[in-house]
Amino acid sequence: MGTFNHFYHKSYDERINIIGDFSELNSQELKSLYENHNERNNSLIENYITDYSLPEGIAVNFLINGEEKVAPMVTEEPSVIAAASNGARMFAKNGGLNAKVISSNLTGQIIVKTDNFNLLFGYVNTHRDKIIAVANNAHPSILKYGGGAKEVSVRQLDENYCSIDLFVDVAEAMGANIMNSMLEALANFLKTKASKDILMSILSNYSIDSLVTVSGSVKFSQLGKGNFSGKEVANKIVEASHIAQIDTYRATTHNKGIMNGIDAFVMAMGNDWRAVESGIHAYASRNGHYQGLSHFMIKEDTLYGEMTLPLSLGFIGGATKVLPKVKINQRIAKVHSKKELMQFAAAIGLAQNLAALKALVTEGIQKGHMNLQLNSLAMTAGSTDEELFTVVQSLRQMQNPNLTNAKQIIQNLRK
Ligand code: MEV
Repeated sequence: MGTFNHFYHKSYDERINIIGDFSELNSQELKSLYENHNERNNSLIENYITDYSLPEGIAVNFLINGEEKVAPMVTEEPSVIAAASNGARMFAKNGGLNAKVISSNLTGQIIVKTDNFNLLFGYVNTHRDKIIAVANNAHPSILKYGGGAKEVSVRQLDENYCSIDLFVDVAEAMGANIMNSMLEALANFLKTKASKDILMSILSNYSIDSLVTVSGSVKFSQLGKGNFSGKEVANKIVEASHIAQIDTYRATTHNKGIMNGIDAFVMAMGNDWRAVESGIHAYASRNGHYQGLSHFMIKEDTLYGEMTLPLSLGFIGGATKVLPKVKINQRIAKVHSKKELMQFAAAIGLAQNLAALKALVTEGIQKGHMNLQLNSLAMTAGSTDEELFTVVQSLRQMQNPNLTNAKQIIQNLRK
């Protein structure tokens, strides 16, 4: 245990040496950690050793609220970007996606231990203005941006606990720090006035006051595939959407497909995708059982899709200001505000979902994945960039190509 005593106090070089000895890393491995480290990130997280990079690509063909857009996406999963572009294209051919922010406030909680709900409820109601003022005083700069604490209420959780809920407009920020500073200041105030027994204060990721809705329709003519007519595919997608409403097994995978797109975009935008994930999955369970987020139906000669979901995102602050790629990605995506960010993320989710459902109810997803899988097989087998095309072509001729086949092809090629 002593090896890592005060590890966080050590210099970068000392830390690398310690971890190298402890984990018996060879010089190549150490070199890779070293070469990918960036002094700036040393102050972003504790015990920093290196940057871990993921591929970033651009999903194309988005038409959102009449504006042409491309989406920077960070993902390690083959086919996600191709699928998002494909879904976006189908919507774009019929006017594109319409997205609208319904609300964008953050909720925070102060958990109080009390068996006298009425007393606490009475105090909070009578002193509402003072409570809002205490919260705003903890982060006054937010008022300049038109934000601030807006409302406070009390919920009884059981016979011993209540939650004082604070609703804050955090303007363009994601707002975790703003909210948590307000809550802690408020908790200190309440301790002296209303209740000494405060268990904790923290924002809630159940972001049902930060909702965005997106919809779009696709002409049947865009949906035909193989032996299936566009209308048949549309009907099958409607069925698939129904199954995601009635079966948790399917709903989970259905929503995972939506999150393939949303997470990849949220990461490119330097936002907290764990907060987004937890909020969305909780929302998917709001009716008492976990359900698919999107709904598809037939409207005249089109397949119409819609989805409402919570997205607690920030356009400024937090990692958006520290990670240098975020500003570039905001420019690539042409997003200028939190509202546009939320709308774009929701649109990507619906496009991603449409493409997945279309593939699933027609040829299956494996065929579409094949190219990228063969690429990945060839690279795992050691193919150079120059050899890649030829290796993939040879692998494609085989029934069930595997790593041994790929290695053999590379060996033959090099002879
Ligand atoms: C794979 O990452 C995502 C899908 O499984 C989504 C779905 O089943 O709807 C294809």
